[in-house]
Amino acid sequence: MAEAANKETGQTKPRKVKYRKNKASWNPAMQAVPVPGIRRMVNMAATMKDVIHLSIGQPDLPTPKHVIDAYIDALNAGQTGYTMDAGLPELLVALRDYYGARYDRKLTRDNILITSGATEAMYLAISATSAPGRQFIVTDPSFLLYAPLIRMNGGEVKFVPTRAENDHQLDPDEVIRAMGSRTFALILNNPNNPTGAVYPRSTIETILEECAYRGIQVYADEVYDHLIFDDDDFASVLNCSMDLDNIMCISSFSKTYSMAGLRVGWVIASQAAIKSLRRFHMFTTSVANTPSQFAGVAALTGDQQCVRNMVDIYRERRDKVVELIDQTPYMTGYKPGGAFFAFPDLPAHVDGSDLALRMLKETGVCLVPGDAFGEACTNAVRISFSTTCEKLEEAFDRIIPWMAKQQF
Ligand SMILES: Cc1ncc(COP(=O)(O)O)c(C=O)c1O
Repeated sequence: MAEAANKETGQTKPRKVKYRKNKASWNPAMQAVPVPGIRRMVNMAATMKDVIHLSIGQPDLPTPKHVIDAYIDALNAGQTGYTMDAGLPELLVALRDYYGARYDRKLTRDNILITSGATEAMYLAISATSAPGRQFIVTDPSFLLYAPLIRMNGGEVKFVPTRAENDHQLDPDEVIRAMGSRTFALILNNPNNPTGAVYPRSTIETILEECAYRGIQVYADEVYDHLIFDDDDFASVLNCSMDLDNIMCISSFSKTYSMAGLRVGWVIASQAAIKSLRRFHMFTTSVANTPSQFAGVAALTGDQQCVRNMVDIYRERRDKVVELIDQTPYMTGYKPGGAFFAFPDLPAHVDGSDLALRMLKETGVCLVPGDAFGEACTNAVRISFSTTCEKLEEAFDRIIPWMAKQQF
């Protein structure tokens, strides 16, 4: 040990050696990951009493019993090991048959990769392809995962805004005008979170045709593909495109079967794309949860009445929330056709974040501010109707008189 002599006494004593503490050095790409607006609100709500949450992004309805039974049966049968890296063979077959029949599209097991929810599927698709010089078109507002993932990997985000006065519909001409020589991919979330907009077949076909012509990749997030309230015809990219050359269709069991915590999703794409994503998947999560994949087989192959019942309940809530937003001063609503969200506008100069925070403090109702979902929607709030009609009414009994008192 180093020793230092005392100048006055001449005695020596061990010298204290100081080590400099290094701060953790994060990858600079982490700066692209924002503090989610949803967390900010939910953390504050957690410190309060008597909060009504209209902020929930997952189904509140129970998972169908036969799905839970299949999960438990898989555990009891010792299905606790890894599956094949592409996914449980029985689930690959079930998905192939299900999508093949639903969209009259010939698929093989090699067109499918099972992932830990749509989140992993989107993570794989974006981070395997985003790079400096590549531009990704994303709607504004959009689900909060896409833009940070693109930017973390060096890609550039080009936003195409949607507006409440147009029911947050996507204008295909505006999307096409946004395409340029650097455009690499388009992220298409249909039905949309946070707006609940469902894009019609004509929109999807026009956009896909242009993307195919220009060689632009399309990553379609269709996790809400069953939560559709007004149309029987859902325009999936899987039945609006000639081939899968530039398409990745991503979905999961989370919303349709209330299985968000079981974490099973998938990508459907060309065999070549799946081959590359499979390698990447092995180096990220390796495989999805095994008993959950058995539960997924039960969900797909079982009676679909449970899904129809859930959709009826969400439709009733959608109608209720549209009616309540219409009665609310300073909120401009529209009729969302799918998912379980409404995204009403506030007057143009109002900061949705400030309003949501004050509303939470003063009424105990928790909404999500629009700026959690993009840059062009700071004067909006997301209202989730993944809660009962009674709770919705109770929440608006607080919101309506409070909004009436505001002076904007
Ligand atoms: C549009 C959208 N995509 C993907 C996800 C994530 O789904 P999963 O639970 O399958 O990861 C969500 C969840 O809220 C979502 O709203």
